[in-house]
Amino acid sequence: MSPPRSRLSVTLDTEQPADRSIWGRAAQVIPGMHEPSATLPLDDTGHATISAPHAYLLSYRLIDLRAGDRLLELGSGTGYGAALGAQIVGPTGRVITIEIDAALSARARDLLSPLANVRALHGDATHATAFFGQCNKIVVAFAVKELPKEWLDALLPGAILVAPVGTTAQHLLRAARTWDGRLDVTRHGAVRYVPNRSTA
Ligand SMILES: C[S@@+](CC[C@H](N)C(=O)[O-])C[C@H]1O[C@@H](n2cnc3c(N)ncnc32)[C@H](O)[C@@H]1O
Repeated sequence: MSPPRSRLSVTLDTEQPADRSIWGRAAQVIPGMHEPSATLPLDDTGHATISAPHAYLLSYRLIDLRAGDRLLELGSGTGYGAALGAQIVGPTGRVITIEIDAALSARARDLLSPLANVRALHGDATHATAFFGQCNKIVVAFAVKELPKEWLDALLPGAILVAPVGTTAQHLLRAARTWDGRLDVTRHGAVRYVPNRSTA
């Protein structure tokens, strides 16, 4: 099976300080990784990929990731997204990343070990709502059929989650819990992510 290809199209707006900052940090994490449309397979099945920097640019822009944030990443893969997130949240913030694949998780934990503000965990992130209370920004790196009710119920006021949602056709959805407790869900274009590997 050939690995899924990203169909995202994102234009870097160099006038936007947020975009300049995220893109600059992406280049610091993997020097030379400037190809905005590459999606690299991490295994033969295509069930794990490292998405191109533009995917992070879009997700991190949608959650307005910034210094001091507490980021939860569901689906660590290589750890690249977590490393980039750690650069952005800085020493006053932190990143928790969870990966279902034991071998990938161990590798990501090893690669991320020099970063003091990152915790890499092994497990099924579908049921990771215990961590939602510790994080104000949540980014999901695998596609779910629909936004799980348990995720939405666990979103604290002020928290924002971004996830690819759908099966054959997927869209990036942003769910934000307002300070007065309302849920605001918006749609942000077609994407192609690997599916949820949860069996539970
Ligand atoms: C697109 S890749 C993530 C790329 C990653 N962010 C990186 O920087 O390399 C999606 C990852 O989600 C993982 N995954 C899929 N379902 C999962 C689940 N239920 N819980 C945790 N991880 C899951 C896959 O094994 C895969 O490594």
